[in-house]
Amino acid sequence: MKFHLLTIFPDFFEGPFRQGVVARAAQFGALEINIHDLRAWTHDLHRTVDDRPFGGGEGMLLKPEPIFEAVESIWPVRTPNRKVILMSPQGRTFTQRIARELLEHDELLLICGRYEGADERVAEHLADEELSIGDYVLSGGELAAAVVIDAVARLLPGVVGNRDSTVNESFEEGTLDCPQWTRPAEFRGWKVPEVLLGGNHAGIRAWRKQAALEKTRRLRPDLLKNLSDFA
Ligand code: ADE
Repeated sequence: MKFHLLTIFPDFFEGPFRQGVVARAAQFGALEINIHDLRAWTHDLHRTVDDRPFGGGEGMLLKPEPIFEAVESIWPVRTPNRKVILMSPQGRTFTQRIARELLEHDELLLICGRYEGADERVAEHLADEELSIGDYVLSGGELAAAVVIDAVARLLPGVVGNRDSTVNESFEEGTLDCPQWTRPAEFRGWKVPEVLLGGNHAGIRAWRKQAALEKTRRLRPDLLKNLSDFA
């Protein structure tokens, strides 16, 4: 899968993508990440990417021209397997389900907003959709784009060692993941549930399902309202 990032801070991604799962996946060819500096599509001496909002107000907006030019030169042809996403707090809230949806595309181009956002014509006439990673405002879309790429990349075949580890985890069944323990079986007097210490696999499966439900009810009761979608 191919990812493109359009940003005014190309160095930002040195951190998140230089190590860990995404870096390893890029090394063995499961994915490719192309980082594009938005300023490459400016034509003035100061390489201007922003301007004041019409009607007044705080802050600056990303101008439409460099963003349109960038996307149109990265992808002269738009096809259904290519999706342009504008990272913005106004977007649809990113979830595990959307991560799986995005996996269906061959290429994604994520536009990282800065300042107070981007000229609305980017959302209306260039991006296929706006995505938010949560109801809070970041200083830019870079962190949000890194979150989306990480969540999608680890679902690609072969990226996370064992396929089961991305299937049996939080949100995949509409609940949180079940609680888990490792050695020692007793630590400071706190014991690991007895059922997990034996070899009754059916019993362990049933126990985990129940424990996941209980934990979800306690910490994220909102998730249980949608549980029937996963039946
Ligand atoms: N840019 C600023 N805040 C954001 C958010 N919550 N999600 C995505 N992009 C953003």
